[in-house]
Amino acid sequence: MVPYKHEALTDFSKEENKKAFQEALKKVESELGKKYDLIIGGEHISTDEKITSINPGKKDQVIGVVSKANKELAEKAMQTALETFETWRKWPARLRADILFRAAAIVRRRKHEFSAWMVYEGGKPWAEADGDVAEAIDFMEFYGRQMLRLDKGYECLAEEGEHNEMYYKPMGVGVVIPPWNFPLAIMCGMTVSAVVTGNTVLLKPASNTPVIAAKFMEVLEEAGLPAGVVNYIPGSGSEVGDYLVDHPKTRFVSFTGSRDVGTRIYERAAKVQDGQVWLKRVVAEMGGKDTIVVDKDADLELAAESIVYAAFGYAGQKCSACSRAVIHEDVYDEVLKRSVEIAEGLTVGEPKDENYMGPVIDKAAFDKIASYIEIGKQEGKVVFGGEVDESKGFYIQPTIVADLSPEARLMKEEIFGPVVAFSKVKDFDEALDVANNTDYALTGSVITRNREHIARAHRDFHVGNLYINRGCTGSVVGYQPFGGFKMSGTDAKAGGPDYLQNFLEAKTYTEKL
Ligand code: SER
Repeated sequence: MVPYKHEALTDFSKEENKKAFQEALKKVESELGKKYDLIIGGEHISTDEKITSINPGKKDQVIGVVSKANKELAEKAMQTALETFETWRKWPARLRADILFRAAAIVRRRKHEFSAWMVYEGGKPWAEADGDVAEAIDFMEFYGRQMLRLDKGYECLAEEGEHNEMYYKPMGVGVVIPPWNFPLAIMCGMTVSAVVTGNTVLLKPASNTPVIAAKFMEVLEEAGLPAGVVNYIPGSGSEVGDYLVDHPKTRFVSFTGSRDVGTRIYERAAKVQDGQVWLKRVVAEMGGKDTIVVDKDADLELAAESIVYAAFGYAGQKCSACSRAVIHEDVYDEVLKRSVEIAEGLTVGEPKDENYMGPVIDKAAFDKIASYIEIGKQEGKVVFGGEVDESKGFYIQPTIVADLSPEARLMKEEIFGPVVAFSKVKDFDEALDVANNTDYALTGSVITRNREHIARAHRDFHVGNLYINRGCTGSVVGYQPFGGFKMSGTDAKAGGPDYLQNFLEAKTYTEKL
């Protein structure tokens, strides 16, 4: 087997790539507005209640109309997944991994088409959508290989006359609740990790991006995944989500999304229900309040670029996005000025038209971000952006708020939008204190030429993913295993060597010879 290597990104400066992408946009546009059924045990089920998925950049454009599950259908899906588990768990790991490799090949062949779906349904700019598809391919290639490695088990020591083994076995039915912000990559990674380890899955896609998940179901089927291994059940969190998280037969919950929902799931899953004979596992990847620290002795151009692109890529809607710049007082003015100049060059508009930044995901996000901009005007100075416009889609200009105190709400609370807060500090000690002063600990960067400060950040900057002299977004599967501490989540490290063990139990076997 060829060793894992991440999928290359598309170079859109090349005319042929640009043309191919435009073709894919056209093809997908002609397919908008279709209906999508639930899929339970391979059976397509249409329901009366629907989720209408729209383009957040052009609100009157319907992406698809998706059937919605209720409790009864969630129960049917659970029974199907329990039954299918009894056959799926016996499949050799090698054959399960092969399905991932085939699915990766299918997505690779239809790469631009998947990107185009995300341009329309997720409001993703071209390059962000392309990166999302590449990451989905990476998850499949990486976890497939990881499963083959884990399948070898652990070579135990043994006394004379005995044989010892420790090997991994699947757990059961997992509830997978992915986010809308990486609607293919993270949804795919969470699903295939649970599947390749031999579990069956109840996939409740994000309500903003259920069509991309439906498209991925087609890929899994084409790749040969047996019916019932992944069951597609869009639905509301308070109805279907709670029902399945509470279900006594649920073995684990894999969640990525907001802190509020993640902590709620964690709490509910902890309660042992009547008839439940295990403790549920919960993988919860939640928010961030990610900081780029700029030291006095730093490449200031690199600092400004790192801040702007990490703050405004996909309109700041990544848990890894830079939402705070903590800058040494000697270079603060210069970095702020350059950041504003770079931000001035960013285009905002419909993602299909190759703009740098598209809309935010929905009305609730738009209102929340707009209200934080108002708070920013009270707490600091809006030096760039600040305008919002929801007439056609949910557009918010890239916004820079300067001169904030480390205790300001803008410096502490997750906004999840294109708003970055600047704060001035007197030295590197204070910079690290401010960087560590939130409830979150997901990503962070330090821009510096000072070796001693790099060493201190290595030890004391408390984040799951620390970057030196680059921005804090864009982790690559297998290269930068991803996940955070504190209220950012359970640090499961997606795309890392230990991720699959979250969905496996280790069994030790001893035989007297
Ligand atoms: N892994 C993504 C990043 O690093 C966030 O989910 O940007």
